[in-house]
Amino acid sequence: MVTSGGDAPGMNATIRSVVRCAIDQGLEPVGIEHGYSGLILNQVIPMNRRSVSGIINQGGTILRSARCEEIKTKEGLDEAVRTIESNAIDALVVIGGDGSFRGAQEIRKASGRPVVGVPASIDNDMWGADETVGFDSAVNTAVRSTDNLRDTAYSLDRTFLVEVMGRVRGFIALEVGLCTGAEYTLIPEVKEDLNKIAQDLHESGHRGKKCIIIIVAEGYGDSREIASYLSQKSGLETRLSVLGYIQRGGSPTARSRRLAATFGASAIEALLQGEEASIVGLQGNEIKIVQLSETNSHRKEIDLELYRLSRSISR
Ligand code: F6P
Repeated sequence: MVTSGGDAPGMNATIRSVVRCAIDQGLEPVGIEHGYSGLILNQVIPMNRRSVSGIINQGGTILRSARCEEIKTKEGLDEAVRTIESNAIDALVVIGGDGSFRGAQEIRKASGRPVVGVPASIDNDMWGADETVGFDSAVNTAVRSTDNLRDTAYSLDRTFLVEVMGRVRGFIALEVGLCTGAEYTLIPEVKEDLNKIAQDLHESGHRGKKCIIIIVAEGYGDSREIASYLSQKSGLETRLSVLGYIQRGGSPTARSRRLAATFGASAIEALLQGEEASIVGLQGNEIKIVQLSETNSHRKEIDLELYRLSRSISR
């Protein structure tokens, strides 16, 4: 197994589940360190029940991870296949996000070995997986931080623009906006009229309401520019708080750990049932096998009803 791309809380709980379920089935699990870079550089370690003791509550990944550009090249793929063959690796479990799954599809093609993906990413932007390992944890971290900001915003009559992660999508922002009662939520999927927001802020300032939280997804635009535009146009000083990488770390929530346990078990089951290039997805409360080619070629839609609800109950 390999953890790849941005780490997510619950990756360790996933590793633990994969290792122990594999051993229960009479398999011999090995870990590849440092993501696909380790696959290229032959960094393979044996794993047993004890090597995953005490990690269920730890953030990060004991196998480490990497964003590996080399796996996109023919030379990189050739080296990866050499590692797979020389270590007699029969199948690969890839724990990661969308970029990792595109790599997984290429590794499958080049090596001919079965590959099963486990969706683990704070961004929650994978088609076929209603929820990814780590999403709930990141959302809870961002909610707690935004609640803290609300305290100081209220005390000093300030407006805060709070940037949350989500490189291109607004899944984290939508959830955090809804759960913190943010007055506005800016997501890349819906372009808002900033001028209109500035006007609203100006008017609510006149009515005496100056404590306002605006959640913005990283992928919406330049948060610094948005904060300064809103400050100038509304006359309400708008402070920017970028939550950043704290959302990727920390102990996973119970929900992320539960997902990790069931996804890990399903990944092993899928391999034993002969799946060759798929991911373990989630639809509703049910784990579903989804082809890698499907997840890699579809875009997961944001819930616009939830977005509208968030707007209508926030003011
Ligand atoms: O893992 C997802 C993510 O945290 C995105 O939300 C963010 O845009 C990106 O990773 C940051 O990437 P990096 O770790 O390469 O800085």
